[in-house]
Amino acid sequence: MKNIFLIGFMGTGKSTVARCMREKFHMEIIEMDELIAEREGMSIPEIFGKYGEEYFRDLETKFLVEIQEKDNFVVSCGGGIVLRQQNIKEMKKNGNIVLLTASPETILERVKYDNKRPLLRGKKNVEAIREMMEARRESYEGAADITIHIDRKGAARICKEIRKKLKRLENE
Ligand code: S3P
Repeated sequence: MKNIFLIGFMGTGKSTVARCMREKFHMEIIEMDELIAEREGMSIPEIFGKYGEEYFRDLETKFLVEIQEKDNFVVSCGGGIVLRQQNIKEMKKNGNIVLLTASPETILERVKYDNKRPLLRGKKNVEAIREMMEARRESYEGAADITIHIDRKGAARICKEIRKKLKRLENE
């Protein structure tokens, strides 16, 4: 099976859903941010602070090229992965892209006590989050093979929905 790339705004639960896919469907998972932080030997805020966002985006692109050699992985991507058109192309070479979406209210609830996301600094309110989501909406929607709305849903249900929609996609 092709790889599955979970994309979506910060706080849409990509990591939780990836773990659920591992438990339920015995798939291997990769947490992209964790892998990048491990390779660089620093946290994501440190990478942003020291080298800037473009450098971080280059690391994302490099990883997406590497993973094309593999199958059957669920990759939980950083929320900004779609900001480069090239990344979308690289993901599609050996993968299906699954978009998780949520309301800005749900996002705020999930990220309000978090300091690990440099791009959310000073933006922990519904209006600012809505604005960022809007600015990225076209890129997310344009990239997605399937979309799952996650408001008020648990991880198990989301996983099942992903499976079902991917099967339908395969049979199309
Ligand atoms: C980012 C999302 C983060 C992380 C970095 C940038 C973004 O990942 O990659 O802070 O641009 O949306 P999560 O979506 O896992 O929070």
